Amino acid sequence: MVGSNWRLRGVLAAGAVLAMAAPALAQQAPSKQVTFNKDVAPIFQAKCQSCHEPGSIGPMSLVSYQDSRPWARSIKNRVAARQMPPWHIDRSVGVQKFKNDMALTDEQVATVVAWVDGGALEGNASDFKAKPVAQGLFWQGERDGFGAPDLVIASALQTMPAVHQDVWWRPMSDIPITEPRWIKMVEIRPANIQGRKVLHHSIAYHVLSPENTGAVNQGIGGRGPSVSGSAAPSASDLVNRRPQIMEWAIGKGYDRYMEGTGKLIMPGEKISWDQHVHAVGEEITSGSELGLWFYPKGQEPAKRSYLVAFSGLKNGAEGLDIPPNSVAHTEGFTVLKENTVITNFQPHFHLRGKAMQVEAIFPDGRTQVISYVRDFNFNWMTNYIYTDEAAPVFPKGTIIHVTAFYDNTKGNKDNPDPDQWVGYGDRTVDEMAHAWMNVVYLSDAEYQERIEKYGVGVTNGVKPQQTTQQQQQ
Ligand code: HEC
Repeated sequence: MVGSNWRLRGVLAAGAVLAMAAPALAQQAPSKQVTFNKDVAPIFQAKCQSCHEPGSIGPMSLVSYQDSRPWARSIKNRVAARQMPPWHIDRSVGVQKFKNDMALTDEQVATVVAWVDGGALEGNASDFKAKPVAQGLFWQGERDGFGAPDLVIASALQTMPAVHQDVWWRPMSDIPITEPRWIKMVEIRPANIQGRKVLHHSIAYHVLSPENTGAVNQGIGGRGPSVSGSAAPSASDLVNRRPQIMEWAIGKGYDRYMEGTGKLIMPGEKISWDQHVHAVGEEITSGSELGLWFYPKGQEPAKRSYLVAFSGLKNGAEGLDIPPNSVAHTEGFTVLKENTVITNFQPHFHLRGKAMQVEAIFPDGRTQVISYVRDFNFNWMTNYIYTDEAAPVFPKGTIIHVTAFYDNTKGNKDNPDPDQWVGYGDRTVDEMAHAWMNVVYLSDAEYQERIEKYGVGVTNGVKPQQTTQQQQQ
């Protein structure tokens, strides 16, 4: 799916929203008026308020009618285009079942659109049931019902001047535990709301104890020097092959591992931070916090989950060459040396990023799309976490093929300068492309057991009845 096909998909999807909204509207009118207090407030409370309340990360509050009314037109645009809530995965292809789905249902989109089209009415005061407003920072995992983290590890704070070159800040933090613990879920957040403006990414590298060599991922086939640090690691090289406990970038929430899998941390280990900070015209002091949720003692998981940055580039950094005023694409290929379950997808780009597709090329040459984000938005490195049943499994020898599209024209509203050539680099104005995915490796026996239940590849947890159906996908 490249070039014009990719554009066509956009047109079709936009048409689908309109087509879908119309009949729903017809059903509601003329008997029922859509009002804020009765119909819209419950949707905003469930799907918007956590980010759009005073002191949270959204630019305005959507708690009350008075707060929301001035934004009606913008709300309709963002909701109908499925840009808000920030859940941008393509709904027509690949894995479609997620642990952290924040999308609106088709009915909810239709209700919001009908509310704005009907004059954005307030309705009866007695219909409004307020939801408590939280103040300030929160853990997305706690909002989603997983409780507070068991351990929070903070980096030191740093002050970024109003005007400055990008900074890569690399402090260390101790991991204050007295016995080994298994992590089932991780989340990174900026240390304060201000920090979200300057913190472009924050990676928590795991400085390993010599007893923890199992944390080094060896299931990804080598392809020479890697620009993303994921190629051919060696278990003995603990210094240069520090695995990531988590990578966070603007807009990401948490990673929650497949049940029965996790990451082991041991006493004496450390977090080595890599925080990319970008000046925004005001002086801001911030840092990062890593929240860890543990498996209860006695329920240690049997398997490790590894975080991999599947590259969207061939032949390393020099593979990225984006002429001024052009649309470009690159591709990367990574061989799976083991039978592998993929448990999430988070596309990572910079300002020219437009779309990313991750596809599996099976050992027999058949291909299948795993996930596709058509309208990538730099503000939102959303993490799409597959449900355990829908997490696809691939036989060893499968190639993970990442295709990345870039828009370096003035049509891209995030583009700081379409007249610049863009190459690979760490600065926000440079480009890169990779798919962050957590993987779990299965022995041949475990692989057989899983495909007996759920089938091979992307099945959304429903094993196809016949192989011919599978081939048609
Ligand atoms: C995960 C947090 C989050 C959620 C959930 C969320 N928003 Fe947002 N929203 C933001 C942030 C941050 C911005 C500013 C950055 C951007 O525009 O992407 C924003 C921007 C917007 C804007 C654009 C405002 C403007 O400048 O015109 C609208 C409209 C909006 N959100 C509406 C909604 C609605 C309606 C919902 C629920 C259906 C929602 N958002 C859910 C965080 C969120």
